[in-house]
Amino acid sequence: MGYLFIFFSLVCFVLLCQSVSSSFVHHLCSPSEASALLQFNQFFEISPPGRCYKASFPKTISWNESTDCCTWEGVTCDMLTGYVIGLDLSCSFLRGTIHPNSSLFQLYHLQSLNLARNDFNWSSFPNDIGRLRNLKYLNLRECDFSGSIPDSIGNLTQMRQLDFGDNHFTGHIPSTISKLKQLILLDLWSNSLGGEIPDIFSNFQVLADLVLSNNRFTGSFPPSILSLTCLQRLDLSSNSLSGPLPSRHLEQLHFYNLNSLDLKFNFLQGPLPSSICKMSSLSFLDLSHNYFTDSVPHCLGNMDSLFVLDLRSNSFRGSLPTLCSRTTSHLRTIVLNGNQFEGPVPMSLLNCNSLEILDVGNNSINGTFPTWLGSLQQLQVLILKSNKFYGPISACQTEFCFPMLRILDVSRNEFNGSLLPQVFRNFRAMIKLDDTNKGTIKYMEPHLDVNIRYIDSVKLVIKGQDIDLERITTIMTVIDLSSNHFDGVIPKALKDLSSLWLLNLSHNDLRGDIPTELGQMNTLEALDLSWNWLTGKIPRELTRLEFLAVFNLSQNVLVGPIPQGSQFNTFSNDSYGGNLDLCGPPLSKKCGMSDASHVPQPLESEEEDDESYFASGFTWESVVIGYSCGLVVGTVMFKSSKPKWFLEGIIPLKNRRRKKRGLR
Ligand SMILES: *[C@@H]1O[C@H](CO)[C@@H](O)[C@H](O)[C@H]1NC(C)=O
Ligand SMILES: *[C@@H]1O[C@H](CO)[C@@H](O)[C@H](O)[C@H]1NC(C)=O
Ligand SMILES: *[C@@H]1O[C@H](CO)[C@@H](O)[C@H](O)[C@H]1NC(C)=O
Ligand SMILES: *[C@@H]1O[C@H](CO)[C@@H](O)[C@H](O)[C@H]1NC(C)=O
Ligand SMILES: *[C@@H]1O[C@H](CO)[C@@H](O)[C@H](O)[C@H]1NC(C)=O
Ligand SMILES: *[C@@H]1O[C@H](CO)[C@@H](O)[C@H](O)[C@H]1NC(C)=O
Ligand SMILES: *[C@@H]1O[C@H](CO)[C@@H](O)[C@H](O)[C@H]1NC(C)=O
Ligand SMILES: *[C@@H]1O[C@H](CO)[C@@H](O)[C@H](O)[C@H]1NC(C)=O
Ligand SMILES: *[C@@H]1O[C@H](CO)[C@@H](O)[C@H](O)[C@H]1NC(C)=O
Ligand SMILES: *[C@@H]1O[C@H](CO)[C@@H](O)[C@H](O)[C@H]1NC(C)=O
Repeated sequence: MGYLFIFFSLVCFVLLCQSVSSSFVHHLCSPSEASALLQFNQFFEISPPGRCYKASFPKTISWNESTDCCTWEGVTCDMLTGYVIGLDLSCSFLRGTIHPNSSLFQLYHLQSLNLARNDFNWSSFPNDIGRLRNLKYLNLRECDFSGSIPDSIGNLTQMRQLDFGDNHFTGHIPSTISKLKQLILLDLWSNSLGGEIPDIFSNFQVLADLVLSNNRFTGSFPPSILSLTCLQRLDLSSNSLSGPLPSRHLEQLHFYNLNSLDLKFNFLQGPLPSSICKMSSLSFLDLSHNYFTDSVPHCLGNMDSLFVLDLRSNSFRGSLPTLCSRTTSHLRTIVLNGNQFEGPVPMSLLNCNSLEILDVGNNSINGTFPTWLGSLQQLQVLILKSNKFYGPISACQTEFCFPMLRILDVSRNEFNGSLLPQVFRNFRAMIKLDDTNKGTIKYMEPHLDVNIRYIDSVKLVIKGQDIDLERITTIMTVIDLSSNHFDGVIPKALKDLSSLWLLNLSHNDLRGDIPTELGQMNTLEALDLSWNWLTGKIPRELTRLEFLAVFNLSQNVLVGPIPQGSQFNTFSNDSYGGNLDLCGPPLSKKCGMSDASHVPQPLESEEEDDESYFASGFTWESVVIGYSCGLVVGTVMFKSSKPKWFLEGIIPLKNRRRKKRGLR
């Protein structure tokens, strides 16, 4: 009752003051704090919004001393005492410097301070922060602070969440930080901090989230981290940590809550201790790009909690771990690429019912093609490249075999035999893209319930370059059978893979004609048939492949004139080298009289309603330019890890095509 009364009188008071008075006296906010806020603000100019989301706006612009500071944007007061306890100026377009004498440090009652995503112009963050002893939450993310992290941070013993991510802080982690015993989150992501990570973690009893990634930390893995029983996420990735994992400490470990362990891109070495399997909540384990050696403990196969296992680019050896030893496994992504694993693919993978991505490329794995993996109904990406697989690719006996497969890369192995049409008929996901995927780009969503930022990525060869696809789009479909010993003819059945994006059959022993049916694979952007024994003429039906940007028929025994028109006008003589009897542009060899009468022309059949096409400002020329640049742009985009051209280049055009067809 009493509280209610006070509350209402306060509200009336505030409203009254706002309308009649311009003096601080009647405000809930104390005059000294209001003036401290205004003074603090004087040192900033409003910069253009750089790194902020659309809905953000400069909060301090509306600050006006004639109103109660408790009503100002970003200011929170204690309703009873009127003290300013929260200041949220994130994304407020502030640019300037916080001086050590800043009146900000007079706001002694502040519990929460959020300055994220402003531009503090590489200034240092003042030591005076230590005066705000009531702070529980401090967010300086993406602020362009530099200098060292102030020692006085250790005075903020109430602190729960400290986020200094994405600044330019240098120097060491101050050891005083160990006094923050109530810390739940410590995020120093992406700074230039160095030295050893101080082994102070036994002081943190409730720390749940520890992110020290993208810095320059050296030395060994700090053993006291392993005493953090509440830890849910540990991210030490992209540093220069070396030495082995502290296996003795791992033995005593109580890491039952750890969800995500990310140690990628360090110099860690030695074997992976089997005690890691005691982390019974672990769903994400990324140890990639280190120097781990020896065999992988087989108990990993019993870790039902695992969703993602990424061990790529290490020096693991021995047989592949028997993952999914139980049918209760949740593994969705397995990446073992770039190690020295040998022996066959373990049959235990048959239990990986949720598996979407399996990448065992660049190892020494032998054995025949694991056709039995076809029973994994979720499998979308299968990469076996650069191993010692041998024998034919046999078709499955079951009806639903590899129904979701979109990326198959078996290049650089010892596979042989002919390409069976039945094999390709199974790939339903490549035959027709799901309707829901059309025109939009979709990523394979991490199905994780924790806030883990893992992005599925595989390496593919495009135009001879290894390219990391940071995200695997669900519309990307690839078959790469190159550099094997496949013989026989190119099966006509390939034409049914109507959503294929890249087909690489190069460096094999394929014979016979290029099937005219390949002209029906109308989403194809890259077709590489080089280094085979293909004969006959180049079918003019291939000019129908309007999206073709990379095309290679070199080093075959093809004859006759090169088809002209559409995409074919964009290919250089590089696409045809080593075929001694091909003629016509872009080759300098002229076609003889007998050839000339047969110069293949682009097919006319689809051209009927070109008028409506042109009417919408869409010309054939722009198609050609669009697509001939498509892969160049695409490659650049790949490198910047945003395969954006799908959206900006190709998809809109495809949509237009679709619209056009719809009009008929
Ligand atoms: C503050 O508010 C008063 C009254 O609404 C107005 O006259 C004055 O111009 C404002 N000052 C600023 C700096 O916006
Ligand atoms: C940013 O820092 C530079 C160099 O220290 C200085 O010249 C400039 O005035 C500063 N800008 C602001 C807005 O503080
Ligand atoms: C704080 O110090 C700077 C110079 O370091 C000075 O320009 C500024 O006026 C001072 N601010 C206050 C509030 O005293
Ligand atoms: C931090 O605390 C120490 C010891 O309590 C004290 O000497 C120091 O002045 C404090 N620093 C700040 C900036 O408040
Ligand atoms: C393959 O793995 C080895 C290490 O086992 C590495 O040195 C090499 O660069 C990798 N090759 C590719 C193409 O990733
Ligand atoms: C496969 O690899 C294992 C282990 O390296 C070896 O013992 C075996 O002989 C190999 N099998 C074939 C067919 O190469
Ligand atoms: C495939 O290679 C194996 C040797 O690895 C050989 O025994 C077999 O005859 C070959 N099969 C075909 C169809 O060429
Ligand atoms: C096809 O594969 C070969 C060898 O594996 C590679 O050199 C070539 O660049 C690939 N072609 C395309 C278009 O990616
Ligand atoms: C086609 O392949 C040959 C041989 O592998 C290569 O020299 C040439 O550059 C390739 N041409 C294109 C356009 O990729
Ligand atoms: C290919 O084209 C280049 C120039 O674009 C030319 O120098 C070369 O002679 C051509 N080669 C053949 C085989 O036509």
